Amino acid sequence: MKEKANSTSDSSVSRRTFVKSSAAVGAGLLIVPSATAFGYAANSSLGLGIIGCGGRGNYDGGEFLNNTDVRVTALMDVFEDRVLSTRANLSKQSEAKGRPAVPEANLFKGHKAYEKLVQSKDVDLVLVTSPPYFHPDHLEAAVSAGKHVYLEKPVATDVTGCLKVKNIGKKYDGKVSMHVGLQKRYDVGYRGMVERIHNGEIGDIVLGQTFYYTNDLGRQNKPGMSDLEARIRNWVFDKALSGDILVEQNIHILDVVNWALKSHPIKATGTTGRALRKEVTGIPGDYLCNDHFILTYTYQTSGGEVHISFNSNQFKNRGYRQSGERFFGTKGASDSLQSGPATINYNQLEEGQKVADKIDCGKVDLHAAVGTKMKALVDGIKSGKFDNQCEMGADTTLTVILGRMAAYKGTEISWDKMMKSNEKWDLKLNLDSLGAGGAVSMK
Ligand SMILES: NC(=O)c1ccc[n+]([C@@H]2O[C@H](COP(=O)([O-])OP(=O)(O)OC[C@H]3O[C@@H](n4cnc5c(N)ncnc54)[C@H](O)[C@@H]3O)[C@@H](O)[C@H]2O)c1
Repeated sequence: MKEKANSTSDSSVSRRTFVKSSAAVGAGLLIVPSATAFGYAANSSLGLGIIGCGGRGNYDGGEFLNNTDVRVTALMDVFEDRVLSTRANLSKQSEAKGRPAVPEANLFKGHKAYEKLVQSKDVDLVLVTSPPYFHPDHLEAAVSAGKHVYLEKPVATDVTGCLKVKNIGKKYDGKVSMHVGLQKRYDVGYRGMVERIHNGEIGDIVLGQTFYYTNDLGRQNKPGMSDLEARIRNWVFDKALSGDILVEQNIHILDVVNWALKSHPIKATGTTGRALRKEVTGIPGDYLCNDHFILTYTYQTSGGEVHISFNSNQFKNRGYRQSGERFFGTKGASDSLQSGPATINYNQLEEGQKVADKIDCGKVDLHAAVGTKMKALVDGIKSGKFDNQCEMGADTTLTVILGRMAAYKGTEISWDKMMKSNEKWDLKLNLDSLGAGGAVSMK
C-alpha cells in the first residue's frame, strides 16, 4: 500500500479551506500557505456520496458513520426505491450520532446520475458500491471531479477495465485518495500472519491451498419486473455485470495469496461449471455465472515456481461454509480462516527454535477490518497523505480474471497472454430504458 504525501497539488485544495482562505484575504488578513493549509482541517468532516445503494452501500455507509466523522451527503442508484430506503436507513444512523440526515436535494436516480453526485459541492469522498461492471467509469468520474474514492472490489470485470483503473491510479496518484475494498489487508490477525510470513517465520513459501465455499445468494427479482430490471437487480448471477463468482466474491482469497507472495501469478489452469445452479430468472443462459471453480495458480519466487490450489462453490445449504488460505513453507506453515484464527504452525521445534508449535497471529475480525480501513482512509485524506490502491486492486482483480480465463477456456493461460488479450465484456443492455437520471422524488 503506497502512501504519498501531497500538500501542494491544486486538486487537493478543499472547498472549505478555499472558502475560508478567500474570506480571510477579503478581510485583509495575510494568509501564508503552510504544508497543511491546502489539506482538510483535522476537525472538518468529509461529505460522503454513495454510488449504488444496495446491501454493501448501506453496510459501508454505516461503517463510515461508525468509524469516522463523515456525513452522508448524497446518494445515487439506478432505482428510486434503493435511494429512498438507503436515505431512511443512513439518515436514522446519522441522526443517532448527532449528524444531519442525507439532504433531500442530493438524491439521484438513473444510470447516468452518478455524474451529478460526483459534481455535488457537498461530496468530498465517493463510495462506489455499484455492480463491478460499472466500477472503472464510476471511479473515473469521481477522481476527475477531484473526489476521494472508496471503490469496492473487484475494480472491474474484464482486463480492459483493470487497465483503465491502473491508468487512473497513475494519473491521480497523490492528487486524491483511492482505496479498494480488500479489507483483509487491514485485519489484525491477517496482518499479523502476513507480517510473520514476510519476516521469514515459515521460510520460503513452496505450496498453497486456498478455498471459498459458501451459500447460494438471494434472488432480488420480483414478479412483474422487466427482463432488464430483473437482470440488473440480480447482477451477482450475471457474468458481465459481476465478473463471475471468482472475480466478484472469491477475490478476497487470491488477494491474500498475492499479498503473502508479494506478486501476482505467472499462469493458471483450471476448470469451472454449474453443478447445482442451472438457472436464475432474468439472466440469459450464456451470461449466467458458474457455481464452482477449481484452479491451480503458479507464482514465480526466488526459490522457484510455487503452486497454489484454489477451490470454490456457491452451493445452497450444502452444509459447509468456510474460506481460507494455507501456505506451506520451508520451515513451517500458516493457516488462516475467514472466521479465524490465523496461525503460524510448526510440526516440531527445530534445534534452537524457541517458539511454540502454533502461534496465534491476532484476532481475525473482518467486520472490524472494514472500519479500520475506513478510518485509515479518512485520516489520510485529512492529513494530506493520500493512499493509492489502484495498482494493488487491479492486480488482484487481474489475478482472478486470469483464473477465470483459464477455467473458461480449459487451458493454461499466462499472465502475459491475459494482459494482451484486450478482453472486454459487453453487457448488451440498453440502460437508457431504465431512465437516464434525475432527482429522486420524496413524495
Ligand atoms: N468488500 C466486501 O467484502 C464486499 C462485500 C459485499 C459486496 N461487496 C461489493 O460491493 C458492491 C455492491 O455489492 P452489493 O452486495 O451491495 O450489491 P447490491 O445488489 O445489494 O447493491 C448494488 C446496488 O447498485 C445499484 N446499481 C445497479 N446498477 C447501477 C449503476 N449503473 N449505477 C449505480 N448503481 C447501480 C443496484 O440497484 C443496487 O442497489 C460489489 O462490487 C460487491 O462485490 C464487497
